[in-house]
Amino acid sequence: MTRKLFVTTALPYANGPFHIGHIMEYIQADIWVRLQRMLGHEVHFVCADDAHGAPIMIAAEKAGRTPQQFVAEVAAGRAQYLAGFHISFDHWHSTDAPENHELARSIYLGLRANGLIDRRTIEQFYDPDKGMFLPDRFIKGECPRCGAKDQYGDNCEVCGAVYQPTELKHPYSALSGATPVLRSSEHFFFRLSDPRCVAFLEQWTQDGRLQPEVANKVREWFQTGPDGRALLGDWDISRDAPYFGIEIPDAPGKYFYVWLDAPIGYLASLKAWFTQNGRDVDAYLADPAVEQIHFIGKDIVTFHTLFWPATLHFSGRKVPDRVWVHGHLTVSGEKMSKSRGTGISPLRYLELGMNAEWLRYYIAAKLNARVEDLDFNPEDFVARVNSDLVGKYVNIASRAAGFLAKRFDGRLSGDVGVEGRVLLDSLRAQRDAVRSLYEEREYGKALREVMLLADRVNEYVDRGKPWELAKQPGMDAALHDLCSVCIEAFRLLTIYLKPVLPALAAQVEAFLHIEPLAWADAARALGAHRIGAYRHLMQRVDAAMLDALFEPPAPAAADTPALPGGEALAEEIGMAEFARVDLRAARVVAAERVPGSTKLLRLTLDAGEGADAEGRPRLRNVFSGIAGAYAPEQLVGKLVVLVANLAPRQMKFGLSEGMVLTAGHADGKAHPGLYLLEPAPGALPGLRVR
Ligand code: MSP
Ligand code: ZN
Repeated sequence: MTRKLFVTTALPYANGPFHIGHIMEYIQADIWVRLQRMLGHEVHFVCADDAHGAPIMIAAEKAGRTPQQFVAEVAAGRAQYLAGFHISFDHWHSTDAPENHELARSIYLGLRANGLIDRRTIEQFYDPDKGMFLPDRFIKGECPRCGAKDQYGDNCEVCGAVYQPTELKHPYSALSGATPVLRSSEHFFFRLSDPRCVAFLEQWTQDGRLQPEVANKVREWFQTGPDGRALLGDWDISRDAPYFGIEIPDAPGKYFYVWLDAPIGYLASLKAWFTQNGRDVDAYLADPAVEQIHFIGKDIVTFHTLFWPATLHFSGRKVPDRVWVHGHLTVSGEKMSKSRGTGISPLRYLELGMNAEWLRYYIAAKLNARVEDLDFNPEDFVARVNSDLVGKYVNIASRAAGFLAKRFDGRLSGDVGVEGRVLLDSLRAQRDAVRSLYEEREYGKALREVMLLADRVNEYVDRGKPWELAKQPGMDAALHDLCSVCIEAFRLLTIYLKPVLPALAAQVEAFLHIEPLAWADAARALGAHRIGAYRHLMQRVDAAMLDALFEPPAPAAADTPALPGGEALAEEIGMAEFARVDLRAARVVAAERVPGSTKLLRLTLDAGEGADAEGRPRLRNVFSGIAGAYAPEQLVGKLVVLVANLAPRQMKFGLSEGMVLTAGHADGKAHPGLYLLEPAPGALPGLRVR
C-alpha cells in the first residue's frame, strides 16, 4: 500500500544563516524521505523559516531593518544551502506568511471555544527606556547565589543556579542598560493543567509513537506534585507589543508567543504547497492514512511532545504520528552555539569545492535512531569517505568499466556464471534488511551493511583477477562475466546508497544508461545491456581541505597567522599612483560558466553606471578566473570590487570590461584558495573604493 507521508524538520529561526547542526537535521530527514520516495510512497516534505519572536525583532532593529525585511534577507540565503547539500524539500515557507496568521488564529479560537484559554495578570520586568517587556534572556544581573556578575535572567553560568529573573541582584536590561522595573500585564494561558489535557497527553506520549527514551523523559511531567496535580503547568502563550508575531484575536496589542505559531508553520507550509498544486490540504489531513512525522533536535522536545499535540488535539485537528528526536552534532567534541554554530561553516564547505555527498555519507554513517550526540571529527571524516565510500564502493565501478568499454563495447554479458550469481543473489537478499534499517533511522547500521556487501564484491574481484584474465588468451568470456557481475553489483549497491548519495546515484544512472533507480530495482537484474562510458564518479577527500574548512574565515588582524611562503611585498607606491586605479563596488547581476573553460566565469556586473540611450541599465561583462572557487549560483546578488578603469581586453570568449578583485596566492597550486573581495552589506553599486 502506498503510504501518505507528511514530513517536516524543525523550522529554523530566521535570525541568521544555517549552521552545520541544521544541515545535519536536514540530511537525516532527507535520507528518510528519499528512501520513501524510492519505495514509491507519496511524500510531502516541507519546512519554513521561524520568523517571529523578540530576539529576531531586536536583531532586525540592530541591523536597521524592519523584521519583515530582516527575515526576508535571511530567507533569500536559504536556497544555496539546501541545493548545495541536496536537501529535497518540496516547499519552504515562513511563519509570517498569511496562511500561518490565519491558521494560528483559527487554532487559538478552537482552544478558546474548548474552554482552555485563561487570562491572568502577571508581573514581569519592563525596560522603561525601550518601552517593552524583556524576555528572560535580555535581562542580566548578579547571580542571587554566588554573586557572579552579568548572568542571564534564568540561570547562572558560573554556579549553575536556576532562578527567576526577578531574583537577580542589580538587574539591568541587556538592550538598553536601564534598570528594569516590575510591571503587570494581562497574559493568555493555554490550560495544559486541565485534566483533559493531562489525560490526552499521558496517553499520546506513552502509546509507543515516541522513542522510548523520549517517552520516559516526557513522563516526568505527569508526576503529581504535593498539591496532587500534575507538574505540567499552564502555558503562557501571549506577549505584549512591541512584538514581531501574530496578533491575538479580540486582544489588541497582544501577540502569540513565537512557540505557539511556530509549529503551526508546519501546517501553513503544507497548505501553501498544496495550494500551489491546486490540491485541498484539509481533505488530505482528514485522511486517516496520512502519517504526520516531525524530525527535531533534543532541545525542543517539550514543545513538540506536549504543547504541539495538545494544541492540535484541542483545536480539533490531526495530531502528529511520530516525533523523531536526534541528538546534537558537535564539532571535534565542541558544542555549538545555537545562534552562531561553530567550527564548520556549511557555506565554506561548499565554497571550498567539498563534495556535499561526503558530508551526507559521513553524517549518515554516524547516525542512529537514538537521541545521541554525534561528533564531526576531521580525521574520521577523511578516513570514512576515502576508505569506505571511495575505496570500497566507487572503486568497484572503475575496476570493471574500463575492460567492458575496451573489450566488449560496453555490453554486459547476460549470463554471469555460478559464482557471480551467488554473489549477486546474496546482495539482492539484503534489500529488505537494508531498507528496514533506513526505515528505522539506523543509517549507521544500514551503511555498515552496505559496506560489508561492497567488501564481498571486492573480494570476488580480487579472486577473479580481471587484470590477469585480460592478459590470458581465451579468457574473454570469463573476463566479460566478471566485469558484468561487478557492474550489476555496483548497480545494486547504488540502489542501497541512493537515499544518502542522490547526486552520485544520478551520475551512476547516466553512466549505466538506466532509468532513475527505485528500491524495487534491487529485485531485478540488468541482464544483457549496454552501458555508457565511465567517468570518474567521486574524488577522495584531500586532508588539506579540512584544514581550510577549519580555518577561521576572518581572523582578527592581530592574530592573523602568517601564510607560510607568503608572497613578497610589491614595490612601494605613492598615494597618487594608487589613486589612478578606479575601484568600484559592483553587484553581480548574472553569473554563468563559460563553455570550453574550466577556469572562467562570465559575470554581468552592475557598477552603478546609469542607463544607456535606450534606457537599459549599463552593465559590464567581465570574465573572472574564479570558476574553481565559486559556483555561479553562489554569486548572483553578491557585491564585488571591480577595477573599473582597466582597459577592456578581447578574450577568446568575448570582451572583458574590467576585473574583479580576489585574495589568493600567486602560486595557486602550492597555496590553493581564492576569495572574492566583498564590500560590507549596505554598500551600493558604483561607490568608489579608496
Ligand atoms: N525555531 C525553533 C524550532 C521551531 S519548530 C516549530 C528552533 N530553531 S533553531 O534554529 O534553533 O533549531 C532548529 C533545529 O536545529 C532544531 O531541531 C535543533 O535541535 C536543531 N539543531 C540546532 N543545533 C543543532 C546541532 N548542533 N546539531 C543538530 N541539530 C541542531 O529551535
Ligand atoms: Zn551563580
